[in-house]
Amino acid sequence: MVSSEIKNFGIIGYPVGHSLSPHMYRAAFEAAGYPNYNYIPFSIQAGKLFMAVEGIRGLGFRGVNVTIPHKTTIAKYLDAIDSDAMVIGAVNTVVNDGGMLTGYNTDVYGFLASLAEANFLPGDCHAVILGAGGAARAILWGLCKKRAEFVTIGARNPQKAQALANDFLSYGAVEGFDWNSNEFKEYMQSADILINTTPLGMFPNVEDMPPIDLNLLPEGALVYDIIYNPSETKLLKTARELGFPTLNGLSMLLLQGKESYRLYTGEIPDMEIMAKTLEKILSANK
Ligand SMILES: NC(=O)c1ccc[n+]([C@@H]2O[C@H](COP(=O)([O-])OP(=O)(O)OC[C@H]3O[C@@H](n4cnc5c(N)ncnc54)[C@H](OP(=O)(O)O)[C@@H]3O)[C@@H](O)[C@H]2O)c1
Repeated sequence: MVSSEIKNFGIIGYPVGHSLSPHMYRAAFEAAGYPNYNYIPFSIQAGKLFMAVEGIRGLGFRGVNVTIPHKTTIAKYLDAIDSDAMVIGAVNTVVNDGGMLTGYNTDVYGFLASLAEANFLPGDCHAVILGAGGAARAILWGLCKKRAEFVTIGARNPQKAQALANDFLSYGAVEGFDWNSNEFKEYMQSADILINTTPLGMFPNVEDMPPIDLNLLPEGALVYDIIYNPSETKLLKTARELGFPTLNGLSMLLLQGKESYRLYTGEIPDMEIMAKTLEKILSANK
C-alpha cells in the first residue's frame, strides 16, 4: 500500500555532503510505500546547532540523524536522552514526538547486531579496540553490555585510551594503552576479536592501516574494521591473507540505520533494498 502522508527527516552534521544516510533512508521509505517521506541532509555549523534543533521542533520533523561534530553537543538541547546514549555520551538519532525530542544512540545496536550476524558471541570474549574516539565509546559500551570478559584499548594517544577505559571501569574490565607498548602487544596475543575504530585506511587514504602486527593475534581471531569504504581496507586484506576471518563496517552502518528507522516509524525497513543501495553507491565511488 502506498501512503500519501508527508513526513520529514534529515541528517545534521558538518559537513554532510558525503553522507550515505539520505540514499539509504530514501530507498527504504520508497520500498515501504512512503513516497512522501522526505530525507534531507543539513550542513549545520556548531554555532547554529541550537537553532537547527528548534527547527526540527518548529517544522515538525519526525526525526533526524546526527553526525560529526554534533553527536555530543546536541544532547543539551534535547528533552530526553535514552540510556545507551547517556552512557556513551553521544546521540546519533533524534525522534520528535509532538515537540518532545528524544536522543538515541543506535551505533551500539548496529555493532552488536553486526556481531550476531557474523555469529560472533561477545560474552566472555577478550576484545581489542583500536582507537579511543566516539565509535570506540559506543563499541566499548556494547561489549560491556554483553559482558565481554576483558577489553583492551590501544591508541596512538595512551592518555585518551586510558581516559576512555576509566569512564567504563564500573561496567567491566577495561584497560587502555599506547598501541606501540609491549603490554598492548601482549594483550593482542589473547584477543578473540580486534576492532579498528580509527579512520586509518578509509577512502581516499586506502594505503593506511593501524601500525600493529596482526601476526600477534591467535588463530581464528575475528578482525573487524568498522570502515565501510573501501569494503576491504588494507587492515582487512592483510588479515584475510594471514587466514583470519574478517568483517567490514557495512553491516554496522546498515543495522544502526535499521534501528533508527524503527525508532522513526515503528517498522522494520527492507534491509535488502538498503544494502543494495549502499553497495551500488560504494562501488561507484571506487
Ligand atoms: N560502520 C559504521 O557504522 C561506523 C559508525 C561510526 C563510525 N564509523 C567509522 O569509524 C571511524 C571513527 O569514527 P569516530 O566517530 O570514532 O571518530 P573520532 O571520534 O574522531 O575518533 C577517531 C579515533 O581514531 C584516532 N585517529 C584518527 N586519525 C588517526 C591517525 N591518523 N592515526 C592514529 N589514530 C587516529 C583518533 O585518535 P586521536 O584522538 O588521537 O585523534 C581517535 O581515537 C570513521 O572511519 C568512521 O567512518 C563507522
